[in-house]
Amino acid sequence: MRKILIVGNWKMHLNASQASLLVHRLHERIMIHRDIEVVLAPPMLTLQPLSVQIDRRKFRLAAQNAYFADEGPFTGEVSFTMLRELVHYVIVGHSERRRVFGEDLDMIRDKVAAAVRNEITPILCVGETKHERQSGETKQVLHDQLMTALHNLTAREVREIVVAYEPVWAVSNGTDWRNHEIAKPDQVAETVNYIRSYVRDVFGPKAASGLRVLYGGSTSPDFVHSFLDIDGVDGFLVGGASLNYHSFASIVTQSYDWQRQKGAVT
Ligand code: 13P
Repeated sequence: MRKILIVGNWKMHLNASQASLLVHRLHERIMIHRDIEVVLAPPMLTLQPLSVQIDRRKFRLAAQNAYFADEGPFTGEVSFTMLRELVHYVIVGHSERRRVFGEDLDMIRDKVAAAVRNEITPILCVGETKHERQSGETKQVLHDQLMTALHNLTAREVREIVVAYEPVWAVSNGTDWRNHEIAKPDQVAETVNYIRSYVRDVFGPKAASGLRVLYGGSTSPDFVHSFLDIDGVDGFLVGGASLNYHSFASIVTQSYDWQRQKGAVT
């Protein structure tokens, strides 16, 4: 059975003391759930202090980005090798990295490979823009993103990674997630189904059934049950709501309630 995974992507928010306070508040509100994995992705600067602060029975850490070379003359970058001891996950291919920082398909492929090489699980973000959806190109876009990103991986490696479906048009600006457009469950169902069928065709049924697929884009506690009801959705990559301890803790609690209702708690 795939474990529910909830990842809070704090993006470029919170300095070290604000981050520490948020972790403290989350710790008060989030219980130890054996069947739910809660991951925090703070800015790079705060990974180190938070690694000392977090209760590892409750939280794991993710980096929001890393560079694919292990070391070298790359001013300003941090490598996957440097993050090995610190994080379980790295977010790769977020639409903000693609759009704002010009990361292309090849760079994302190299980053996924570097993550796997360094035994860090990549959370590969894929998703279409509004224009691409309206032009009927969603599947083609996802196909190209998946094909290049997974290119160098074996079926066994693909089985262990995480794919986050984040339609670009559903991603909030960090403050308007309560009112922002969110994908409809049937749209998510169709896309998640496509992601798994692509993986099944190329890497086989074990990879397709092992891989975890998350939804991301204006996630709020209100939508947790209806999205987890979608076959093949294993959790959330949360942006704006992860900066609010009530909301993020509530997303975790709602996921736990959902799991209990399904009788899926061990
Ligand atoms: P929001 O939940 O703020 O839309 O952000 C989604 C996201 O980009 C997470 O990586």
